[in-house]
Amino acid sequence: MIGAKSGFNDNGINWPDDSEGGYRVPYSVFMDENIYREEQKNIFRGPSWSFVALEAEIPNRGDFKSTFIGDVPVIVIRNGEGGVNVLVNRCAHRGAAVCRKLRGNTSYLECVYHSWAYDLDGNLTSVPFRRGMRGKGGMPSDFSMAEHGLKKIRVQIVNGLIFATFRSDTPDLEKYLGARMVGAIKRIFNREIEVLGDERQRIHGNWKLYAENVRDPYHASLLHLFHATFGLYRSTQVGSCVMDELGRHSLLVASQGTSSEDDDEDAYSDQRSFNSKFVLQDPSLLKGKRDFDDDISLVILSIFPNLVVQQISNTLAVRQIVTYSPNEFELVWTMFGYEDDDDEMRRIRIKQNNLIGPGGLISMEDGEAVELVNRAITHGSGDSSFIAMGGGKAESADHLITEGAIIGFWQHYRELMRI
Ligand code: FES
Ligand SMILES: [Fe+2]
Repeated sequence: MIGAKSGFNDNGINWPDDSEGGYRVPYSVFMDENIYREEQKNIFRGPSWSFVALEAEIPNRGDFKSTFIGDVPVIVIRNGEGGVNVLVNRCAHRGAAVCRKLRGNTSYLECVYHSWAYDLDGNLTSVPFRRGMRGKGGMPSDFSMAEHGLKKIRVQIVNGLIFATFRSDTPDLEKYLGARMVGAIKRIFNREIEVLGDERQRIHGNWKLYAENVRDPYHASLLHLFHATFGLYRSTQVGSCVMDELGRHSLLVASQGTSSEDDDEDAYSDQRSFNSKFVLQDPSLLKGKRDFDDDISLVILSIFPNLVVQQISNTLAVRQIVTYSPNEFELVWTMFGYEDDDDEMRRIRIKQNNLIGPGGLISMEDGEAVELVNRAITHGSGDSSFIAMGGGKAESADHLITEGAIIGFWQHYRELMRI
C-alpha cells in the first residue's frame, strides 16, 4: 500500500493514524535496516540537496575536503577555474576510496591501490601499464580514459554554502530551500566568513531523532538547563518557528531579553532547570557583542535532510549530519566568524564556542537525548511517539511552544519514502 495514510506498507512499517489531536511516529522507522537503505536511495541519493561544505573551507585551487552525502563518500574540491566539484570518492577502477585525507591541497587525485590518477575535475589522466609491457598485458585497445573518470555530482552554492544532489531533476537550490530559508541564510552569510574550526560527534542513535531535535523548540529551555538558567533561551521569549511550503525545512528564531523575570519565574516555577539566583563564576563567557541589525539572538535553521545552521549569541556554526547506520550518525560542527572580525570579536566567538559542540554547555544534552530515545524504543512493538504540542499539525507558529516543524519533517519524509 504505497502512500497509504496508515496500515502496513511495502516496508512493513505500520504508520498509525493521527489520534487524540496528535501525530504519531512508529518507533520501527528509527530502527529498521530496510528503512535505512531506502532512505539512502530516496532521500540522500534522491531529489534532495545535501550540504557538503562551506566555500571558505576550500578557498584555493586544489583545496579539498572529503565528506559524505548520506553514506556515500565524496570529495569537495576547488578546480582550476575556481569552481567547485563534488566527486564520488570511489575509484573508477575497482572502487577504492581515492582521497584518504579529511582535507588538504593537491594538484591531482591518485588512488593508492593501482595508482590511477585524476585531475581536479575528476577526469582520469593516467593508468599505469595501460599499454602493458613489451607488447603484453595492459588495457584493451578500445579503453577510453574519458569514460572512466570519478563520478561527478550536481553542485549549487548559496552564499558560500555548497550543496550537492545526485539527481538532475532536483529543483534548483534556491527553489528547494524556499525564499524564507534563503533569507535566513543570507542574513547570517552576509559577508565573507572565517572558519574557526571543527568538532565531530558520534551519536549512537538514528539520524532522524536529531532531525526532530533541531525542529523542537519545546525541549530547548527544558532539557538545556544552562539555556534557561542564564536567559539565552526561554520559551517565554519572543520567538517563532516557521517552515517552508512543504514543511521539510524549519527556522526557529528567538530574541534574548524579551521575557520578564516575573514571566519566567511563573512559567518555570515547577521546573528543575530554572533558578534565577544562579550566577556564573566567569560571566565573561556570556559577554557578547551585537552581531546583527535585529534583536534575534538565536537561530536554528534546519535544512532537509542534513544541515543545521546556527546562531546562538555570538556563536555561528553549521552542523552536518553524516549517517552510518540506523543507530549511528556523526554530527560535524564547523564553527565560523567573519573575515572582518577584530581580535576581540574573534576571542568572544571562540570563548562562546564553549556553549556549543559535543561538550557544549547548551548542546551536549542533545546527543544524550537522542541516545536516551534510541535506547528505549523497540522495533516491531507497534509503539509510537505522540507529537501534539502546539496543535499536532505541521503549522508554523509565532511562539516557541510547538512541535509543528517536527510533523512537517515527517510529512515530507513520508512523501519521499512513500510510507
Ligand atoms: S582501485 Fe583505484 S587504481 Fe585500482
Ligand atoms: Fe537542544
